[in-house]
Amino acid sequence: MPADHEMPHDMRPLGRTGIHVLPLGIGTNKWRRADRGAVLETYRTIGEAGPCMIDTAEIYFSERVVGDCLRAGPTRAVIASKFLPFPGRTSPRRLMRALDGSLARLGLKTIDLYYVHYPLPFIDVGVFAEGLIEAVKSGKARAIGVANFNADKMRRIADHLARAGVPLAANQVNYSLLRRAAETNGVLEACRELDVALVAYFPLASGRLTQPSDDMGTKAMGTKALLTCLADIARAHDASISQVALNWLLARDSHVIPIPGATKPHHARANLDALSWRLSKTEYDAIDQASAPRMA
Ligand SMILES: NC(=O)c1ccc[n+]([C@@H]2O[C@H](COP(=O)([O-])OP(=O)(O)OC[C@H]3O[C@@H](n4cnc5c(N)ncnc54)[C@H](OP(=O)(O)O)[C@@H]3O)[C@@H](O)[C@H]2O)c1
Repeated sequence: MPADHEMPHDMRPLGRTGIHVLPLGIGTNKWRRADRGAVLETYRTIGEAGPCMIDTAEIYFSERVVGDCLRAGPTRAVIASKFLPFPGRTSPRRLMRALDGSLARLGLKTIDLYYVHYPLPFIDVGVFAEGLIEAVKSGKARAIGVANFNADKMRRIADHLARAGVPLAANQVNYSLLRRAAETNGVLEACRELDVALVAYFPLASGRLTQPSDDMGTKAMGTKALLTCLADIARAHDASISQVALNWLLARDSHVIPIPGATKPHHARANLDALSWRLSKTEYDAIDQASAPRMA
């Protein structure tokens, strides 16, 4: 990890696509039910910050809300959405039709990043690769990615795409200090080797890494120890537990781009503020140790 304490984080590449984004994006799966005024303010907050990745998916039903925000004014944000495959809905034609639907809801002609939401058992990843290649070649997607792919499937689809000259931009997986499987199951290693972004969803463990340390009555011992460690470091930086948790993911590897969900502008602002400083090596190591039981 970098030890240059106090240095801001640089932009991060989406693999070899030539697209660069802020190291932190934002998840929108709760935007549909959230207060619209707060969501619009959240959208403005991140848009002003730079090319922040806004993550949606057809299954979240938040594409329309993101589309309403986009229609409300220009933004520097980078928009990502996902194709939902299910048995009988896997062909390139079905993927392209789904992409057309997403573009219509978002009010876009081209999406910055289009993912396959997860692999399906018994479906060769080549089928998805063909659809994703068409998405790029048609000009409807600038870059393409996968989500919830294990290392083997990720390597196979990256290989298929490479033969068509299309880089795999990202693999989006569940990754936080309370779930570090990506470090042991080969996904992080594959991202580094293939130069693919690891987009971390649930980076705040669905809110479990946001609670202050005196509100831990019901939490498991391991989680309590981790939260105590995060709270101590947060105090030293006049920061919050969530900012420390996000900063650790950012320091873990330069391929990691966390996308914390936020429906409130002050949460989005606080998360982006985590980009203005870094953990020291000692702090990084202390957190690493306190969360080590979560490696598997
Ligand atoms: N690819 C997949 O299969 C997949 C699966 C699940 C999720 N995702 C993506 O990952 C994104 C993130 O997941 P998530 O939102 O469920 O979990 P998360 O990012 O781990 O946690 C979000 C929670 O933390 C709160 N929060 C955010 N910033 C905060 C801050 N600075 N201080 C205090 N609380 C804060 C949010 O509150 P407020 O809402 O009140 O702001 C929300 O309750 C989703 O939106 C979605 O885009 C992808």
